[in-house]
Amino acid sequence: MPFGDKSPVASGKVNLAPVLAEAIDIAREAGALLGDLFSKPRDIGYKGKIDLVTDADRAAEDLILGRLARAFPDHAFLAEESSGGRVSRPDPMPRYLWLVDPLDGTTNYAHGLPIYAVSIGLLVEGVPALGVVYDPSRDELFHGGVGLGAYLNDRPVRVSAEADLERSILATGFPYDLRVSVDNNLAHFTRFSYATQAIRRLGSAALDLCYVACGRLDGFWELKLHPWDTAAAAAFIPEAGGRVSDYAGGPFDVFGRQAVASNGALHEPILRVISADEP
Ligand code: IPD
Ligand code: CA
Ligand code: CA
Repeated sequence: MPFGDKSPVASGKVNLAPVLAEAIDIAREAGALLGDLFSKPRDIGYKGKIDLVTDADRAAEDLILGRLARAFPDHAFLAEESSGGRVSRPDPMPRYLWLVDPLDGTTNYAHGLPIYAVSIGLLVEGVPALGVVYDPSRDELFHGGVGLGAYLNDRPVRVSAEADLERSILATGFPYDLRVSVDNNLAHFTRFSYATQAIRRLGSAALDLCYVACGRLDGFWELKLHPWDTAAAAAFIPEAGGRVSDYAGGPFDVFGRQAVASNGALHEPILRVISADEP
């Protein structure tokens, strides 16, 4: 679905619905590819001591970037495997910037644990505008965007109603540098373990965020995330009634490397645990 010079996208009168439809189609195709490769022998490489990459990450990214570039030739792209590790905010910020994680949950995937997803988000002028997260193992597609709603397999989703942190279930994750950095989330993990009903570490931040949007989780926090982990779901969590911010409760920035997402009611209680001085 290429957009010519006179299209609504190119002219600035953005109609995001057809853009989202194309992203959904691309995420489904990439997810099907990941699903096909899942049970086959994997070619696994190491980007760091515990940071993996597989041939499936690369194949899915090639597919996604090829299709996005054909559909939106005037847009910019930042995708994990071709990013060269670049995670800083582009300057100048392109009007349209796609953020692509071809396989969020690579460690799970490489171990044959079927919790992983394709995550494709679009920033418009630096702000998450729409996103798609597709989980091929469960055939669950989350999508939505600003003014477009939030959906799981085309049904509208809503965050949970839980307002008591002690009864909440939250998720988090740990950065790949946890062995060498004290800023590794272990202190927060301990604190939240005492403050909540349960904590989960599923291994896919994109899915964690979608699970907040649809009420399976009441909240999520994580640091040192990458923009491609969060851009898609951040676009539609508010549409589901939730809230996304940085650790201080300020505006969420996909390049900021701190994410708190919640059903809204638990946002301040979660921020208070994060900002407490001692576990
Ligand atoms: C990782 C997952 C994980 C999170 C890490 C991410 P990857 O993404 O989202 O849940 O804890 O911070 O880097 O490496 O599987 O794409
Ligand atoms: Ca990721
Ligand atoms: Ca990834």
